[in-house]
Amino acid sequence: MSGDLKWNKIMGACLGTAFAILVVQQVSSAVYHTKAPEKMGYFVDAPDEAAAGAEVVLPIDWGTVLPVADVAAGQAAFARCVACHTVNAGGATGTGPNLHGVVGGPVMHAAGFAYSDAMAKHKAEAPTWNYDELDHFLTAPGRYVPGTKMSFAGIRDEQTRINLIAYLRSEGSAGFAIPAPDPARQPGAAAPAEGEAAPAAEGDAAAAPAEGAAAEAAPAAEAAPAA
Ligand code: HEC
Repeated sequence: MSGDLKWNKIMGACLGTAFAILVVQQVSSAVYHTKAPEKMGYFVDAPDEAAAGAEVVLPIDWGTVLPVADVAAGQAAFARCVACHTVNAGGATGTGPNLHGVVGGPVMHAAGFAYSDAMAKHKAEAPTWNYDELDHFLTAPGRYVPGTKMSFAGIRDEQTRINLIAYLRSEGSAGFAIPAPDPARQPGAAAPAEGEAAPAAEGDAAAAPAEGAAAEAAPAAEAAPAA
């Protein structure tokens, strides 16, 4: 009998250990799943570097993409923001500030909202939500404004951000001008015209279409961070 009891204890201990291992596995897989989106941060630093050299990801040519942006798709994308933001004129403050007129407006544009110190610091460095600034912020808020209290992972797809910014602009910021198309921001700028591509330029020509495709076709944009 005492032998049986001892055996029971051993079995019980084994079961307890097995259960603990299962719990640890569940928890760690949950942790990995929630952390995965932070990978998109690699993409965030690229636009600044792109301004200096043509090799890296080019900044978005707003003068070309905004006039043809899909505002309705941008409104649909705003569904990801409504848990915290309103965008209508005089809309209520929620977890986040009302966003009416935010495009082209000052950082911390909503009077009476308790912004984070991180956002105040960002305002000192970049006072205006111009198109580039909004794009960087919406790509990965926590990377672009470290310590921001906007708990949102960000939008990786470039075309979705463009549509969303076009929608935000339509809500109280139509007066904020769209810049003229900027050849320096266009993927083909440094490459020769298609039909006349000289053999010597093959290196450039091979790289350029890939970037152009990424900018035009939303699904392909997923591949952009690798460039
Ligand atoms: C979980 C809540 C939450 C979600 C979701 C969210 N935001 Fe925010 N947002 C905030 C908070 C909070 C702030 C203030 C940040 C700070 O003070 O650091 C903010 C700030 C902003 C600002 C700066 C406003 C200003 O006055 O300077 C913009 C622009 C913005 N959010 C856009 C968006 C967009 C677009 C989306 C959807 C793609 C979105 N946010 C999703 C909570 C959220």
